[in-house]
Amino acid sequence: MKILITGHLGFIFGHLTEYLLNNYDYEIIGYDAFTYAANRELDFELSNKYFDRLTCYCGDRYRIEDLKTLGEIVEKHKPDLIINGAAETHNDNAIANSFPFITTNINGVHSILEVCKAFKIPLIHMSTDEVLDHKIPINNDGVGREPAFEGLPFDYKRECYLENFYEYENSKNLWFARLKEDAKLNPRNPYSASKAAGELLINSYIETHGVDAKIIRCTNVYGPRQNKEKFLAKAITEILTGGTFPVYGKGEQWRDWLYVKDFCTAFDLIMHKGTKRIYHIAANDERQNKDTGNLVCKLMGCDGYYFVKDRSGHDFSYSLNCDKLKALGWKKQYTFEQGLKETIESYKGD
Ligand SMILES: NC(=O)c1ccc[n+]([C@@H]2O[C@H](COP(=O)([O-])OP(=O)(O)OC[C@H]3O[C@@H](n4cnc5c(N)ncnc54)[C@H](O)[C@@H]3O)[C@@H](O)[C@H]2O)c1
Repeated sequence: MKILITGHLGFIFGHLTEYLLNNYDYEIIGYDAFTYAANRELDFELSNKYFDRLTCYCGDRYRIEDLKTLGEIVEKHKPDLIINGAAETHNDNAIANSFPFITTNINGVHSILEVCKAFKIPLIHMSTDEVLDHKIPINNDGVGREPAFEGLPFDYKRECYLENFYEYENSKNLWFARLKEDAKLNPRNPYSASKAAGELLINSYIETHGVDAKIIRCTNVYGPRQNKEKFLAKAITEILTGGTFPVYGKGEQWRDWLYVKDFCTAFDLIMHKGTKRIYHIAANDERQNKDTGNLVCKLMGCDGYYFVKDRSGHDFSYSLNCDKLKALGWKKQYTFEQGLKETIESYKGD
């Protein structure tokens, strides 16, 4: 099988490209614009190790929104599958300047869909948990955090949540809305809005043009080789160079962290056995950022972190239900602590 992977030099799809080359005899065509987020050393490593099965198109002209260039590469290699992992991904950057996000995450997805339509190639597109309508968790004792619910009885609040197709699981004395694949879209910042727009375009090409496409949404992924702009990579590298790291607000936001190796096994199953349009991937181990910060400090022997002004449009919690994925037989292999320890070790070698 021949697969074209876009963004194959980024964090997640760099790992996935390596995983697929290691575990299958597939031929892979990498297509990456080589933005600041691309991993240059990985390009060198992969090209040397898999020179007979990996062809790389890397550089500023290999942009997914460039329909002509993308079309030429697809026509030349005629892949059996396109995996879209290319994106502008850093939320803070989208607040400072959203233009590249619109270009890559919307126009780019549009070009890929045009190519899939023209050459009848199936697509797996990577989206994010951030596109969904996450609510603020409510405490078991009924002390709601959602301002609109203030003073109302707990059962009433729970009913309101359930109405929105959410599934509740009582986790750590807190009611979490682990959102299912059919939950409502409600992006609240320019990054997640651009990703949601990409999803809507895909749905429209499935319905209108019969394009064969799947969407994968995932919670926070972490691991070796992640760009230092992201929370855990920043925390680890700052501590390793004798510094400390920032945490937004009071660190009360809830996040779910998935180790990148567990992401790859989940993606593998969806790619080979998945029959649904949308799949969620999650670790189902939600934690507040302040606790995550404390764990990193404990593992690395650091005194503590510092709080900075909260980001605007900062969602309070992300949490996904991934029963559809579990039904394919997936189980994560790493606890958060195990994944973190491996990640910390990997940065020591950098
Ligand atoms: N990192 C996470 O925690 C996370 C969580 C959920 C979903 N996602 C999604 O997973 C995907 C990958 O995320 P990541 O954090 O690994 O990304 P990343 O920022 O590490 O890498 C993105 C890659 O895409 C390339 N790229 C950017 N714009 C391009 C363009 N116009 N044309 C071609 N290539 C381009 C970059 O050069 C880079 O190699 C994204 O779709 C992101 O939205 C990430």
